[in-house]
Amino acid sequence: MRIVLDMDTGVDDAVAMVLAMNSPEFEVEAITTVAGNAPVVQCTRNSLLITELLRPGDPPPVAHGACEPLVQPLIIAPEVHGHDGLGGLLDSLPTPHHAADTRPAVELIAAIPHDGPDDVSLVASGPLTNLAIALRTDPTAMAAYRRIVIMGGAFDVPGNTGPVAEFNFYVDPDAASEVLNSGLDITIIPLDVTMSTALTRDALESLVRSGGRTDTQALAKPGRNLAAILYRALDYYMSFQEDESGLNGGFMHDALAVSAALFPSIITTRPASVEVVTSGPARGRSLVRPAVNGRTVNIAVGLDESMFHEILEERVLQPVWG
Ligand code: BDR
Ligand code: CA
Repeated sequence: MRIVLDMDTGVDDAVAMVLAMNSPEFEVEAITTVAGNAPVVQCTRNSLLITELLRPGDPPPVAHGACEPLVQPLIIAPEVHGHDGLGGLLDSLPTPHHAADTRPAVELIAAIPHDGPDDVSLVASGPLTNLAIALRTDPTAMAAYRRIVIMGGAFDVPGNTGPVAEFNFYVDPDAASEVLNSGLDITIIPLDVTMSTALTRDALESLVRSGGRTDTQALAKPGRNLAAILYRALDYYMSFQEDESGLNGGFMHDALAVSAALFPSIITTRPASVEVVTSGPARGRSLVRPAVNGRTVNIAVGLDESMFHEILEERVLQPVWG
């Protein structure tokens, strides 16, 4: 299965990228970046760095995308992901060797060749700005994607950006509204499922120890390999969560979206029409409403938690720290 990842490359996006690139079922065709967790320049740099560390000789193309939402001013999340999106440690790392693709993200998304209707899927784990622009400029190219899996929304749970909104939809609610009402084959992975289980610090530490790295302190120092970079990024991400809610761990929102593209049976879904509130105090809120023109999306409502943790262990934790 060929796949394109559109991301605002923060900590859980990075985990999702590792998962996708370590999955033999996937050929990662391209990574496109969008402003969200961090400014887009930083998201592009993070993506170049991680793809290079994973596949030094032959990284997939990384294309630079929208630097701000369609209408609203950009909001980033340094408290959750660090000022650079990777826990604030990139200043100590070298610049990636590869440059970004010369095409803008939207052009690359539209240029991916499709051998048939079931060929390429798209996973979006940031604000939906690039996808909305791609829909406006080349709806035929967007319709050629087999399925679009989107991390976003909060339905029957509180938001994580204010009381009612999920971050990706809050940052660019206009883009979310356009994309979800496009009539494309869309599956949404909302906070309702992504926050139903977490990667705990205990699980991470015990894996790191089982890999022979008894000295986790060593990993917490600046390092240039993926194990050190991702460990420190997760450390930052988990510390934020612990301060915020007492949970010593982190939600792997975006890795769940990639897992659902990989193994659709990991989630259960229900069809619904979704409205995203674009302004006012409920900005970014996602609501189920009666279908307009029969257009629906699939909302994930249930999750096979043990399968998700097995996937994380096999494709992220073991390869990186085992
Ligand atoms: C989403 O917001 C970002 O902070 C995460 O990367 C994830 O995509 C969760 O609301
Ligand atoms: Ca994200």
